Amino acid sequence: MKIAFCCMNTDPRPWLQSLRAALPEAEVVEWSPGSMQDGVRPDYAMVWGPPQQLIDEQPQMKALFNIGAGVDALMKLSLPPHMQVVRLNDAGMSVQMAEFVAHAVIRHYRELDAYERDVAAGEWRFRKPLLRTDFPIGVMGLGVLGERVAKTLAMFDFPVLGWSRSPRQVDGVHCFSGEATFDEFLSATRILVCLLPLTPETRGIMNRDTLSLLKPGGYVINVARGAHLVEDDLLALIDSGHLAGAALDVFQTEPLPAGHAFWKHPKIAVTPHTSARTLREDTVLQIAQKIRAMARGEPVAGVVDRERGY
Ligand code: NAP
Ligand code: GLV
Repeated sequence: MKIAFCCMNTDPRPWLQSLRAALPEAEVVEWSPGSMQDGVRPDYAMVWGPPQQLIDEQPQMKALFNIGAGVDALMKLSLPPHMQVVRLNDAGMSVQMAEFVAHAVIRHYRELDAYERDVAAGEWRFRKPLLRTDFPIGVMGLGVLGERVAKTLAMFDFPVLGWSRSPRQVDGVHCFSGEATFDEFLSATRILVCLLPLTPETRGIMNRDTLSLLKPGGYVINVARGAHLVEDDLLALIDSGHLAGAALDVFQTEPLPAGHAFWKHPKIAVTPHTSARTLREDTVLQIAQKIRAMARGEPVAGVVDRERGY
């Protein structure tokens, strides 16, 4: 069995070492444009943001194993129908996402940003406690990450709502599904968390119309993809006072360009796409197990439905 490794912006050396240790029976080769020796025909590839050239050069590959959860970059490629795309299922991401979103929610709800400003100004000042019942949280996307996030927030006794494409049941979470329930879900939400995959249906889903439906004082936490949010619409709704602010981990353009309005906005917290990181050892272990299963002809979890786009 031959496996190509092609992960952009990633130092390949520790990955190649881990992958060779996890799959000693396989020949693991690094792929970069023009690097593959003639006659080397990989069966599988481990990828992150690969160029179309990899696919065009190696169309016989049976599957691409993504080292992240989101496959939007792969869905832009032209792939032969037989080539499967397999997303990462958790591999240590859901706990990171749960802690990151819980932190963003609690920082906002407990006004920790305001306390930090007071302390920086040398002021010992109490604020009136707020009621968590006034901060219903709506989680868009109840998949591997969204479900864990929603359950975690419910443990802090916040009212939690969830929205997905197909009906879901999550303990402690009021679940909505489908487009027909979207407005009802938004209108009942004050803190909106985006954990949707980026697909043609979800691109720009957070815009002036939808964000206007949030309860007054709404707050947006985007930890999915920058293209889910119409950035100017968010700024306009914060400026108008309808939204209280946002915590953004992902952006239309990454890295966030110098001079972008988000960098210094007093009501927007920015992080550099770091809410749930790929953990190398967990990821290699999961992908190695999936490759072995696929080679034996067994089903594997996380095969992407190319029609749906996730
Ligand atoms: P997932 O398991 O595929 O879950 C996706 C969820 O979104 C599912 O509940 C799905 O509904 C729902 N959904 C999809 N399209 C929808 C639509 N049109 N309307 C309503 N609901 C829809 O994905 P995941 O593993 O939780 O990851 C979610 C996303 O997080 C990834 O795609 C990636 O973009 C992002 N992410 C970001 C970071 C970061 O560091 N910022 C890290 C990892 C992942 P069904 O349940 O009905 O299928
Ligand atoms: C990161 O953004 C991922 O999709 O895993």
